[in-house]
Amino acid sequence: MRTQVGIVGGGPAGLLLSHLLHLEGIESVVLERRSREGLETTVRAGVLEHGTARLLREVGVGERMLREGSVHHGIELRFDGRGHRIDFADLTDGLSITIYGQQEVVKDLVRARLEAGGKVLFDTEAASVYDLDTESPRIHFFQDGEEEEISCDYVAGCDGSLGVCRTGIPENARTEFTRTYPFGWFGILVEGPPSTEELIYTLHDRGFALVSTRSPEVQRLYFQCNPQDDVEEWPDERIWAELSTRLATHDGWELTGGRIFQKDIVQMRSFICEPMQHGRLFLAGDAAHIVPPTGAKGMNLAVADIRVLAHALTEFYRSGDRGSLDAYSETCLRRVWRAQRFSWWMTSMLHRFDRSDPFQLKVQQAELDYVTTSRAAATTIAENYVGAALNISHPL
Ligand code: PHB
Repeated sequence: MRTQVGIVGGGPAGLLLSHLLHLEGIESVVLERRSREGLETTVRAGVLEHGTARLLREVGVGERMLREGSVHHGIELRFDGRGHRIDFADLTDGLSITIYGQQEVVKDLVRARLEAGGKVLFDTEAASVYDLDTESPRIHFFQDGEEEEISCDYVAGCDGSLGVCRTGIPENARTEFTRTYPFGWFGILVEGPPSTEELIYTLHDRGFALVSTRSPEVQRLYFQCNPQDDVEEWPDERIWAELSTRLATHDGWELTGGRIFQKDIVQMRSFICEPMQHGRLFLAGDAAHIVPPTGAKGMNLAVADIRVLAHALTEFYRSGDRGSLDAYSETCLRRVWRAQRFSWWMTSMLHRFDRSDPFQLKVQQAELDYVTTSRAAATTIAENYVGAALNISHPL
């Protein structure tokens, strides 16, 4: 088998790349380990930056997002029993975020690719990538128990943090930067009405909590937990009690309940692999970097990588110019580190690191007090959250 761009991984990064290349007349094949159903039902984050939502619209896959997604113009930061709104529209000249689940983005992209006759191979496990330093790199993969090979001009490694592509960069040619946090997020999906119109991020003496949403009927909530916790240790009543305590306000705000139909624990980690390219291999999304979810940057960073990569590949196939391909890693890493900084900072401000350290809690509360009362400080949250501060090479 042969194609122009071999794409390992059919998450948002791989599928979007395949779609953008198709719009430019460039052929690709996507290899995805999971089944179509498994892929489309994997629940991940749900916040699209302003520029991410705009890109999806511009490239023709935003129609359902426009109908079913919900546009938010701010978030609430809650601490000391009081809520404070960060008004994105006011602080960033009218920008916003769109709440639309990652699996919905994936569904829309899969449909667009298949309708256009694109090749997306599900249940296909990439085993290794090699000959990356040659004109014709290859991907080995397994399909129906058979070992197969695809050769291409370029390989896009969009196969997540546990994928094989990153190991295609020799160990002595890459540097990995990691930070693990001493807590996890306990996440629940709830069938029931929303408690609030906008997301609420809260810092309480007992730890962080977040009220998010997926749709008018499905809510997504999280609270800081011990990363070693087991979901079995958290019966529904204990979860509701913990969330209600952390989210309580002096004026008696109430959390709306519902039926919990999924529980999971998200590990919190920062990770970056430098460089994001080697020979004819280009890493994008989680294969190259992981952010803790506090800044809601994960999928947005993947989309930003793909925007750069699709543009560079298009330039190469149109004119033979490799300048943008050569600069891929450097171009992406600037934004990646800025998003990493924002995610790390939000994480640091909003979690309890050491319950026996009241000084640190007071400093965090003072920081929250500052970002919710100074227009300059509030602007730094708003412009990072909507993504405007991260658009270095592609201004909004
Ligand atoms: C989510 O809805 O899953 C979500 C929202 C905001 C975050 C992280 C996750 O910061």
